[in-house]
Amino acid sequence: MIVTSTNASRWEFDLIVIGSGISGISAAIQAAEAGLEVALLSKESAIRESNTWYAQGGIVGESESDSPELLEADIYHAGADINNREAVRLLVQEGPRLVNEFLTEKIGVPFSRDENGDIDLTREAAHSVRRIYHVTDRTGQAIETSLVEYLGRTENIKVFEGHVAIDLITNVHNSVDPQEVYRPARVLGAYVLDAATGKVAIFFAPSVVLATGGVGNLFLRTSNPVGATGDGIAMAHRIGAEIINAEYVQFHPTVFFHRDVPRFLITESLRGEGARLMNRRGEYFMKRYSPTELDLAPRDETARAVYREMEEEDADFVWLDARSITGIDVRERFPGIFEMCMKVGIDIRREPIPVIPAAHFFCGGIKVDTNGRTGIPGLYAAGETACTGVHGANRLASISLLEGLFWGVRTGMQASYRPERLATALKESVPDWVEPASVEDFDPVLVSQDHRAIQTTMWNYAGIIRSRSRLLRAQADLNYLSHRIEQFYQSAKLDRRIIELRNSVLSASIIVHAALGNPRSRGCHYIE
Ligand code: SIN
Repeated sequence: MIVTSTNASRWEFDLIVIGSGISGISAAIQAAEAGLEVALLSKESAIRESNTWYAQGGIVGESESDSPELLEADIYHAGADINNREAVRLLVQEGPRLVNEFLTEKIGVPFSRDENGDIDLTREAAHSVRRIYHVTDRTGQAIETSLVEYLGRTENIKVFEGHVAIDLITNVHNSVDPQEVYRPARVLGAYVLDAATGKVAIFFAPSVVLATGGVGNLFLRTSNPVGATGDGIAMAHRIGAEIINAEYVQFHPTVFFHRDVPRFLITESLRGEGARLMNRRGEYFMKRYSPTELDLAPRDETARAVYREMEEEDADFVWLDARSITGIDVRERFPGIFEMCMKVGIDIRREPIPVIPAAHFFCGGIKVDTNGRTGIPGLYAAGETACTGVHGANRLASISLLEGLFWGVRTGMQASYRPERLATALKESVPDWVEPASVEDFDPVLVSQDHRAIQTTMWNYAGIIRSRSRLLRAQADLNYLSHRIEQFYQSAKLDRRIIELRNSVLSASIIVHAALGNPRSRGCHYIE
């Protein structure tokens, strides 16, 4: 059931899920089917708007040519071998099967099939075999659409669109009972802004799953939608949850570049099918950077190569040449990219595509165990906002949807083991949201300027190629911005943009702090 707006100031559920991509929806479905009353919150006006929606390439599924050992080795190779072995083993043993059981059979995702009716497997960088399920180049859209449809048919779930989580509530941070500070911290729910009414309600539950996605929009150039502002990272950090591996931000080597249209991803499976990166002089340059893997080298290496070529040629972009693809109909296999490029007059069968690298995926996140539990009782995290350690220093392509699905289902299952509601006295000890005595309408120009300052700082000083002096500069600039934004947040009328700005500057500071603390270049943290 979808709840768009309401006047209630206190809600109570067995589970609150914040975020509506693959991990959030899977967690909600799993828990609701186990009998829990679930609230699914999305800050967007339509829940489908999530990072999942924009995923093109695919999701690693079961295939005859593959084995858990082979997949495990590829994940370590991409991740610079610092991956969490326990989490990787669990994922490779059980994850691909779940794609069939949960996505294909239960939810009904229409994965692309070959002429024999078998799943059509594609390939992306650093995969040693074809093992990726896809729905043409619109895999994320197809998965999200099927999940949202299934969600609509599931009992026990209330969906709150346009509801922005401001802060998590714990007994030690928010209860006015002085005894609570002596008790172990636990999560009790969240303060949530209803964007339509401007009112803040309390959502109580003994369990909360953070599934808020990534941090791409902290960077000037990104493949992510605008909502990727590190909300879960910031909320978890404010209540003392541990954030790990935050220096590992993955940049995708090929995002469409054109002055007149918004950026969009050009899937790596285009290179999996034979497209090649080319500099402005017409040279296929990957042979100089990765003589054996060429255009299918791990993503961190390829993104740096593209960046260096652009620097050397003082160019705004490089080319991705899809004319070298043979044996498939590019228009049929990649209809989304074909149409988007055609809109600006680029026929990818005849002309190369202008591309740039851009922030794509956060390999770090809120530290969770193999059941999605954070260090704070009652708080779970799943998907990009969580760090299971599966990705190590750099994620293997098409593992993120798999990780989101796997730990989404797992956290939903875990949450259903502790469904007892919160005691009345404890809930009553949590005060309603208090607005500052005098709130001012804010000037949107100030908000967008501060956001742009974060993005340029992160892109230039904490981006694809970092140095200690650049990171120190980033730290100083972010400190200054944090101070200004906190003042702003304290006095301005609450609004999604202010909440996101506050989360963005904190998440950016966490990334820079982690990058400064790790002098060793590895995977997507590259420091000169
Ligand atoms: C892509 O299609 O290139 C992105 C897939 C991913 O990031 O896993």
